[in-house]
Amino acid sequence: MILSIESSCDDSAIAVTEIATKKLIFHKKISQEVEHSVYGGVVPELAARLHAEALPRILEECKPYFEELKAVAVTSSPGLSVTLIEGVVMAKAVAVALNIPIIGVNHLVGHIYSLFIEKETQFPLSVLLVSGGHTQVMEVESLESIKTIAKSMDDSFGESFDKVAKMMNLGYPGGPLIEKLAKDGDRKKYNFTVPLHQSPLIAFSYSGLKNSVRLAIQKADESDYKDIAASFEHIAAAHIIQKLKKYFKEVPPKSFAIVGGASANLYLRSQIEELLKPYGASLLLSELKYCSDNAAMIGRVALEMYERKIFSSIDELEVCPKSVI
Ligand code: KG4
Ligand code: ZN
Repeated sequence: MILSIESSCDDSAIAVTEIATKKLIFHKKISQEVEHSVYGGVVPELAARLHAEALPRILEECKPYFEELKAVAVTSSPGLSVTLIEGVVMAKAVAVALNIPIIGVNHLVGHIYSLFIEKETQFPLSVLLVSGGHTQVMEVESLESIKTIAKSMDDSFGESFDKVAKMMNLGYPGGPLIEKLAKDGDRKKYNFTVPLHQSPLIAFSYSGLKNSVRLAIQKADESDYKDIAASFEHIAAAHIIQKLKKYFKEVPPKSFAIVGGASANLYLRSQIEELLKPYGASLLLSELKYCSDNAAMIGRVALEMYERKIFSSIDELEVCPKSVI
């Protein structure tokens, strides 16, 4: 079995995955949403302290599997350095104590493999990753071949939902809160501009849209918030659709996947489903419980890395806040 640890942001999670069957034997996640909600976003030092409390408590529950462990995997990049370190230090301690190898996993690769928890992989695949930290289109052929086609030049899709929710004093995380508010709103009421709509670049940008929404909120009263939320959600999704359309003209999709916490957004899902129809392309989604951060996806990547003997040395494994893919 492989023990996997995730602490890149505000979820403390540990999983145990059986190597031969890919079966998830154990998975537990303790989220910190309530603690960060009053601040309207993740406070890194608070998150680190909460990981330091939660991770040992979850690890305690994994003790019955210790004898079976062949490796320990941990998210080492990208994420908040002060929270990543909590997981990495724990993984190193487990590796030393049990004399097993350590595997450093990229969190973004984890989101891709969230599609294949307890399943075989299915490549090649075009992937849209929409999370709190990233908005990225990737072409994936294998673990070794992940090519980034487009990414955000500033804020991410999920982050823009978090910021708009904060402006409306709704709490954190903003994605589900804005989606709920937008359901009863008029998507056409506010005419926000689609970001980069005149640019030939296949890239994303959410900071301009966020500022337009800020101005609208300043002029509005609370009864207008649902229309602002609906119009914002519409344009945030339209931006992705416009850029994907452009990309699909060059490379028509065959298999397409949406991963990451914000892939739970039903409006974005439905718009992408429509876009894929004429191509007859299939749409892959992670199970809802594995869209947001979790340790099962880190364990799934670790299975692949274990098979290829991609281990890190305990001395050299470091946290890296920025992504390398
Ligand atoms: O993947 P994830 O759990 O953490 C990161 O790796 O960042 O993604 C969290 C992000 C947050 O920004 C959250 O607001 C957003 O995903 N999110 C959503 C929805 N559910 C979560 N954004 C839009 N609509 C949603 N339904
Ligand atoms: Zn994530």
